[in-house]
Amino acid sequence: MQVWDLLSFRPAVPPIKQIFPTEKPATLLERIIEASSKPGDLVLDPFCGCGTTVTVAERMQRRWVGIDIAKIAIEVIEDRLRREHGDSIGGRYEVRPEPASLEDAQALADEDKLAFEAWALRRVGAQKSHPDRGIDGRMYYHDHLDGETKLIVVSVKGGGVTTEQVRSLRGAMERENAAIGLFVTRRRPTSGMRAEAAEAGEYYSAGLGRMVQRLQIVTVEDLFDPEKKKRPVDFPAEAAPILGAPGLPEPIPTAEGRR
Ligand SMILES: C[S@@+](CC[C@H](N)C(=O)[O-])C[C@H]1O[C@@H](n2cnc3c(N)ncnc32)[C@H](O)[C@@H]1O
Repeated sequence: MQVWDLLSFRPAVPPIKQIFPTEKPATLLERIIEASSKPGDLVLDPFCGCGTTVTVAERMQRRWVGIDIAKIAIEVIEDRLRREHGDSIGGRYEVRPEPASLEDAQALADEDKLAFEAWALRRVGAQKSHPDRGIDGRMYYHDHLDGETKLIVVSVKGGGVTTEQVRSLRGAMERENAAIGLFVTRRRPTSGMRAEAAEAGEYYSAGLGRMVQRLQIVTVEDLFDPEKKKRPVDFPAEAAPILGAPGLPEPIPTAEGRR
C-alpha cells in the first residue's frame, strides 16, 4: 500500500529504521547520492567501513572511491560487492593497499613511481607540492614558540640515485631558504651522497637544544625500521618555549619536568 504525505501530496518517504545511532543505512545513502549526483559521477567515502556507500554507489551507476585504514574493512567490502554484483565486479575496481613492508614499498616503486612518491611523502609527514625543480614535497615546523616558521624541502627518489640529485636538493634548500632538506631514497645512499649531504652542514635547533644535520638522507628501509620509523626525520616536531623571554607564557610542564 502506498502512503501519501497529505501536505505535499507526494508519496511519504518511509522512515529509516536504525539499529545503532551512527548507522547509515543503504536507504539514507541512496537518498544522499540521488540528491547530489548523476549516474557516472564520482562518489567518495574516505572512511568507508563496511562499504555501504560504495555498494549503493555501484548499484546507482556512480563511479566510486572508498578509503579505509583497516584491511578487514576492504575484505568485507570486496565480499559484499561480490555477493551483490557477482564475481565479475572484481574486474571493475582496483584495490590499492598502502605498503605494509619494505617489499611492498619496493613493488610500488617498480609499479607506479608517482604513487610511491605520494606514499613516501605521507609517510614522512610532508605534503606534496607542485612539481618544482628538485622538490617533491614540503613540511613546516617551529623550533620554538615565538620563532619563525621553518621549512623542510623533500625530494623522493623511487629509482636509481646519484650524488648530483643530492647536490640539486642542496641548491633547492638555498633557493627556498629551507632549514632542512630531506632526501628520501629507495636505494641505499653511496658514500659520495653522504659526503655531499654532510657538506650542507648543521644548524642549532632551539627546539631540540642541539645541532641538527641540514641535509638528511632517509632510506625506505629506515621507514620500516622499528626504531627509526618513529622519527625518520630529525627535526623538532613540537615547538619549545624559550625560558625567560619577556612576554612569553609560562613554559608548559612536560613529562621530563620544565623545559
Ligand atoms: C563508522 S565506519 C564508516 C562507515 C561508512 N562511512 C558507512 O557509511 O557505512 C568508520 C571507519 O573509518 C575507518 N577509519 C578510522 N580512521 C581512519 C583513517 N585515519 N583513515 C581511513 N579510515 C579510517 C575505520 O576503520 C572504520 O571502518
